[in-house]
Amino acid sequence: MEKKTFYITTPIYYPSGNMTIGHTYTTVAADTMTRFRRMQGYDTYFLTGTDEHGQKIEKKAAEAGVTPIEYVDKIVAETKELWKLMDIEYDDFIRTTEERHIRIVQKIFRKFYEQGDIYKAEYEGMYCTPCESFWTPTQLAEKDGVKVCPDCGRPCQPMREESYFFKMSKYQDWLIDYIETHPDFIQPAKRANEMLTNFLRPGLQDLCVSRTSVKWGIPVDFDEKHTVYVWIDALSNYITALGYGTDHDELYRKYWPADVHLVGKEIVRFHTIYWPIMLHALGLPLPKQVFGHGWLLFGADRMSKSKGNVVYPEPIVARYGVDPLRYYLMREMPFGADGNYTNESFLTRMNADLANDLGNLVSRTVAMIEKYFGGAVPAATDAVDPQTDLPLQEHCARLPVLVSEQMDKLQFSQALSEIWKVIGECNKYIDVTQPWVLGKDPEKKDRLANVMRNLAECVRFTAILIGPFMPSTPDRIFAQLGIEDAALKNWDSLNAFGKIPAGTQVHKGDALFPRIDVNKELEALSGGKEEKKAEKAAQKQEKKAEKQEKKDSKHDEPEYPAEIAIDDFFKCKIQVARVLACEKVEKSSKLLKFRLGLGEDGERTVVSGIQKWYEPETLIGTQVAVITNLKTAKLAGIESQGMILSAMDKNGNLRLMSVGEGVEDGAIIG
Ligand code: ME8
Ligand code: MG
Repeated sequence: MEKKTFYITTPIYYPSGNMTIGHTYTTVAADTMTRFRRMQGYDTYFLTGTDEHGQKIEKKAAEAGVTPIEYVDKIVAETKELWKLMDIEYDDFIRTTEERHIRIVQKIFRKFYEQGDIYKAEYEGMYCTPCESFWTPTQLAEKDGVKVCPDCGRPCQPMREESYFFKMSKYQDWLIDYIETHPDFIQPAKRANEMLTNFLRPGLQDLCVSRTSVKWGIPVDFDEKHTVYVWIDALSNYITALGYGTDHDELYRKYWPADVHLVGKEIVRFHTIYWPIMLHALGLPLPKQVFGHGWLLFGADRMSKSKGNVVYPEPIVARYGVDPLRYYLMREMPFGADGNYTNESFLTRMNADLANDLGNLVSRTVAMIEKYFGGAVPAATDAVDPQTDLPLQEHCARLPVLVSEQMDKLQFSQALSEIWKVIGECNKYIDVTQPWVLGKDPEKKDRLANVMRNLAECVRFTAILIGPFMPSTPDRIFAQLGIEDAALKNWDSLNAFGKIPAGTQVHKGDALFPRIDVNKELEALSGGKEEKKAEKAAQKQEKKAEKQEKKDSKHDEPEYPAEIAIDDFFKCKIQVARVLACEKVEKSSKLLKFRLGLGEDGERTVVSGIQKWYEPETLIGTQVAVITNLKTAKLAGIESQGMILSAMDKNGNLRLMSVGEGVEDGAIIG
């Protein structure tokens, strides 16, 4: 019978700088999932790679005094080194600068143009002359009310550029229907709602898919002054890597549609709107799932190279090995949610989960088999205690199912938690059965034999199931257990409990994960004291900002008069505004800062306390309702020129008021 296939991808990362622990997070998740499916017998294919074109890379290379390709070649080599270090086993690494990719992207672009999905038009934006960069309204930064270049901070001038556009709106109803009828397509499900409410139902804008001002990219082959711009180039990698569109498309035919694209939540929109539309326009099936996972945060912020608050995996791995870091990344936060990276939580988990729970179980089991049975796993006897033995055996026998149920949902953390429940139960089993008491009484030897067998078998199950997460730990455990037979190390061998052969010779080895002194290690990792100081300072700042916000939001619950005149209502100027830019207010956990476009009435900045309920990126491009003649107020030090309207839903979440289709920016609500 032909094996079932499993195709998984990571985003292709920008090689503008070295990969961080954030990129490592997605890549480890993909590798873990691949290993798990391969263990289950699937024919797996795991793709990762790099997204090498665009202005930013062009600029970085210029700063470094090298050509763009020289610049990315170096980062790519280092990236591949890092993946090797992290025990990542990808099947292919696609680079968007490769001929195999370029050729097919050009072909795809041409097809879209020929079938009328792409048209040429003029595009208005702002130009930074010193940087020779063209910026869209959402890319611009602002200084003292003036729009400035996000790179150099100098003022920009309005400018027109000719571009190709993709008619996204043409496919919007089809996509809404597809998402609504395929509940598994976008995971976690709340991200599907975000896409529908914020982008699809309000109406899609056509997407700019070429630039004339960016040279480092794939030329449009029928109009050479244009370069394919960002998303058509980047997203296509998932099929160009499989040989789609060539005479050698065996991999494409075998593995497409992908089982899952793993992506960070900030690019869910591109993968669940533009990518499906592109595929549909090509007449190709859609990936079965796009999973938007959360962010590893550092302090209150997303780690980012530009903010300089980045953690790199190399020093951690150099000090503690790969498996503890892989374990931590998959264990610490549920896949889908954000979580904080701190050295302290990493070190604490190493001690608690790895040194104590797992490490002790293995070393106690092996040590006791040596002590009481001369190192040979005893044969089963009749001395069964149904009260203690059976629940443990049954639980452990069910573990493969419990783990795969979680893995089917990409719930890595839950899967590990299931394994650790059995480890915990084993440690409790040792406390309850008290082998050291049994060992003193020769008549209890039969009973002790079963206790030891049960423990050894649980350790065998555990070793197999942690393999996808911690690839080099199982062999270290098997070495101590004395298991050499490959048929006792695989998924199929988990189909029954109790397979470990009597007479198997155990070998006590070094502690799997030695206990560490957390305080000492914190010092060693980043001058721990400094880090703690910085953390405390950040917490203080946050509290201060929250207090200020509380003060600022005193007007939250007005007292309404019983009746007002219509004129009173018309004192409020409420308008439809488009979100041009939106970001978190620094040091605030509540506020988002908006740049709003009011059509002919210009633009303004508004601060709103809805950070808890919306990802800023997902709001860009949407329309909101805003009171525009409100006296300006300072919120967290920012002049807010208006108030965005929202209402609380039944679960206490603020939801923005939305606007019906076809309403222009600046339209009066009343
Ligand atoms: O967006 N937490 O590349 P990129 C969690 N080239 N995940 C993180 C992370 C963090 N702090 N930092 C990075 C791009 N990631 C495009 C993608 S795909 C066709 C094109 C991971 O270098 C996460 O997967 O900015 C995120 O989506 C990705 O790296 C962004 O990588
Ligand atoms: Mg990004």
